[in-house]
Amino acid sequence: MQNELVQKISEIRKILHSYEWLIDAYIVDFYEEDHFQRLPSSWRTCMESISVPQLHDLLRFDRRQTESTIWPLAILSLRSLFQRLALSREHRMCNGSDTFEKRWVNSAFHQHAGLFQKSVKHKKRHEIVQFAASCLNEEPSQNRYTLVDIGSGQGNLARALSLGFGYQVCCLEQNESFVQAARRKDTELWEKLVKRDPALQASMVKPVHLHERVNLKQIDPVGFVQMLHRTLNFSDKDEFQFGLIGLHPCGDLAPSLLRLFLACKECRFIKLVCCCYMKLSCVKLHDQHAANNYGFPLSEFCRSSGLMLSYQAREISCHAIEQYSSKLLEYYQELKVHAYRAALECIIVRLRPESKHSGLRGGIKATEVSFEEYSRRAIEGMGLSIPTTEIHSDETLRRLERWEDVVKFYTLRLMFAPLVETLILYDRLLFLRERGCNARIDVMFDPIESPRNHAITAFK
Ligand SMILES: C[S@@+](CC[C@H](N)C(=O)[O-])C[C@H]1O[C@@H](n2cnc3c(N)ncnc32)[C@H](O)[C@@H]1O
Repeated sequence: MQNELVQKISEIRKILHSYEWLIDAYIVDFYEEDHFQRLPSSWRTCMESISVPQLHDLLRFDRRQTESTIWPLAILSLRSLFQRLALSREHRMCNGSDTFEKRWVNSAFHQHAGLFQKSVKHKKRHEIVQFAASCLNEEPSQNRYTLVDIGSGQGNLARALSLGFGYQVCCLEQNESFVQAARRKDTELWEKLVKRDPALQASMVKPVHLHERVNLKQIDPVGFVQMLHRTLNFSDKDEFQFGLIGLHPCGDLAPSLLRLFLACKECRFIKLVCCCYMKLSCVKLHDQHAANNYGFPLSEFCRSSGLMLSYQAREISCHAIEQYSSKLLEYYQELKVHAYRAALECIIVRLRPESKHSGLRGGIKATEVSFEEYSRRAIEGMGLSIPTTEIHSDETLRRLERWEDVVKFYTLRLMFAPLVETLILYDRLLFLRERGCNARIDVMFDPIESPRNHAITAFK
């Protein structure tokens, strides 16, 4: 199994390396660096002949029977490779065992669903239900462990797991206002539940919230377990075992949690859904054997073979690909904003080269404003004034007329996103397997609800 994983990693790496010129192309430089001309001529010819909604098919590797577009051969073979190598993103509702069904139906979470869901956003609700189901669905022996939720935010998941399903949960969160909000929300829900069903008072356990920052640079397993002992009133003599959970621990937090899991003998399992890969700290060129606290890569195999991923590749792997894909079908005029941004970049670079790639104001809808209005709002606060002659120049108009080319180029780039994410997740999987863990990756969320939808689960 490990050989197969190593083989897949090697193949993905080769593909990503061959298409670095596309994956690493910043879309803001589309006009400035004439990205469209960098496409192979057969790709350009194809792109010039298709409509934006036809691009939708490029982002779906599994539904090829119904397509009518004739893609260049290289794109067709890439898509076959993606289908074979990239992790599926398709979500299937989990079919639980009888024990699972019984626990679920009898849980306070199920019986008082309205109270648990009040004031929780739709996306978060979906994540909590699926995460809790996944915990419940693990072997019964795992269910008695204390769960430690690191980077717990306002404690929504922990509240469901403890008040809703009876787990003992200890949360660690570095943001004090989140910790306070979590405690307040726990108390409010507790009171409502007890008012509705007084019998619950005897059986429910509240989560424990600690305002604590996990040191990402230096893992201290002994100190960590002592802190849990103190917090949960366990003595050193008690047999204490726990599982680590993390819902979207961003950047280096996820790799640190994997290291903590491996380093603590009391930690029996881990379940993480990761995000924000662009925030990972990465091994630098010529430094592959350096200190082991980089966020990427983690596995011995990837480190020793010098695997690297650019910031741009890691950034694109975090996009909401299904949401973008449905825009291509219905609301693609909104995507004109990428062309606005790239055309504005040309003007900025000419007027003030040192402001190249500046972060501009976002959230402006291209369907609602002219390019002039967009530019005025986007550069607010930069202390830059753009003459209207620049906005209305023939050059700018010619660029904006080609706005669909920007969308086409961007979609081609996005086509690689699932493969990049797969590589990052496979490196983590391999890291765990190299150390003898029983580890797997599942699709936990519906990608339309929550795009970072893969869970890594490992036991030891
Ligand atoms: C993306 S949020 C997810 C929050 C929560 N799990 C959820 O899904 O709603 C990541 C959280 O991790 C916390 N965090 C990041 N690094 C941390 C660290 N080193 N120690 C503790 N918390 C951390 C952040 O403050 C933030 O609340």
